Amino acid sequence: MADADIKRVTVPFRITDPERIPTKRYYDEEFYQTEVEKLWPHVWQMACRLEQIPEVGDWIEYKNLGKSVIIVRTNDGVKAFHNACRHRGVLLAEGHGNCKTQGFICPFHGWRFNMDGENTFVYGKHLFTEHQLETGDINLVPCRSEVSIGCVFINFDDDAPSFRETIGPLIDRLEAHNVGDLRAEWWFATVLPANWKLSMEAFMEGYHVMRTHPQLHAATGVLYNSMYGTEGGEMNMVDPNLNLQQNIDSQIEHMELLSAGMAGMCHAKDLAVAKQLRHVEIPGDPAQALLTWFGMVNAEITRQSRERGEKTPDLNEAFMKDPVNAVEFLFPHYFLLPFMSSMAAYRIRPLGPESCLFELYSLTLFPEGKEPPPVMEPKILAYDSKEFPQIPQQDYSNIPRQQLGLHAGGFEFMRLSKDIEGLISNYQRIIDGHLSGVAPDKLAKATNLLAGNFDGEIHDLGF
Ligand code: FES
Ligand SMILES: [Fe+2]
Repeated sequence: MADADIKRVTVPFRITDPERIPTKRYYDEEFYQTEVEKLWPHVWQMACRLEQIPEVGDWIEYKNLGKSVIIVRTNDGVKAFHNACRHRGVLLAEGHGNCKTQGFICPFHGWRFNMDGENTFVYGKHLFTEHQLETGDINLVPCRSEVSIGCVFINFDDDAPSFRETIGPLIDRLEAHNVGDLRAEWWFATVLPANWKLSMEAFMEGYHVMRTHPQLHAATGVLYNSMYGTEGGEMNMVDPNLNLQQNIDSQIEHMELLSAGMAGMCHAKDLAVAKQLRHVEIPGDPAQALLTWFGMVNAEITRQSRERGEKTPDLNEAFMKDPVNAVEFLFPHYFLLPFMSSMAAYRIRPLGPESCLFELYSLTLFPEGKEPPPVMEPKILAYDSKEFPQIPQQDYSNIPRQQLGLHAGGFEFMRLSKDIEGLISNYQRIIDGHLSGVAPDKLAKATNLLAGNFDGEIHDLGF
């Protein structure tokens, strides 16, 4: 479609000023239906973690917006199938299991399918006309899937650009950090009374730390103020009013708060290493000395974890060569918060215009051969549960409240900072690109721009 035609396509509540997001996009029924029809069937969705299907025959179900897909590990790698018996459409599999010996058996009339989706049994074949049972036609319908960064991603659109093309060079950066070897050590889920995009956007900037996570701000105010509170926005970690030891102490306190507040965002094992190196003599200018200290901590984390048999990359080398950002987004519904050896991961699925399923994982590396059994199901909590780590508790306290505020009279659009809330604008305008029929390769190019865009600027997306 030509650019001029794309502009003529009617998209409800389309963004016309990149710094303003119309509020109805977060609750209007028609807008939601447009997303269900025009966005979700064409995007790469994080369907499961790879460690959940370690053995041949292992399978797990992924559900979103009333569609169900079975992900199976076969002798020829991971495959995905639309989850419906080829006879009269019963869901073949629910939950997770292993189909190596039995295959999938339909609970209605007992038709069977093997792990490759081939029909292996029809009870009373003679009862059907021949063309109803043509080979191939009664095999399970494959769904497109790709394995990447320790997960299986699926897409209902056979013509969409590949996952790698869609996400772009971020995948290489994540791979350089051995993200594919991380495993979930815990997994929480909650139903959040908020639109799925609103929930994503609460993690697209650090501007909210000062008020939403005051404990983090109190520990390293200089850092946050330098990024958000003063003109220029140059990141500065060193408090000039403190000596080096006091600066190190406040960095350790910050790590401690991240660790207690969000596990994977600073793993206890990394925090322990930082504490071992609390008292070190580093001469010279405190700013340089603090950087040197971080370098020492990263080197020691790398050394100790490798000694344990974990596949940790050289954290200093990875940081110098190809740093990952505080948060990395994989359009449309998965994101990672890398911190030293480990990371937190979030996945969000819509349940309606004003409700979403919000999942939270803590990912880390385990010594090879000593991995714990995979976490197969999330622990489901109420969104205001005190069992959530402190940081998501604080985020969840604002998101539903924001959803309510969006309905207030006279509030027609959100106003974004062009400098640090650009990711929200870029992300929302890519959604408009999908809704208005922008060509898939252009959409992929624009989606590439979301990498490293945390706290970033508004981009020209090329449509
Ligand atoms: S619906 Fe599955 S065997 Fe009939
Ligand atoms: Fe937050």
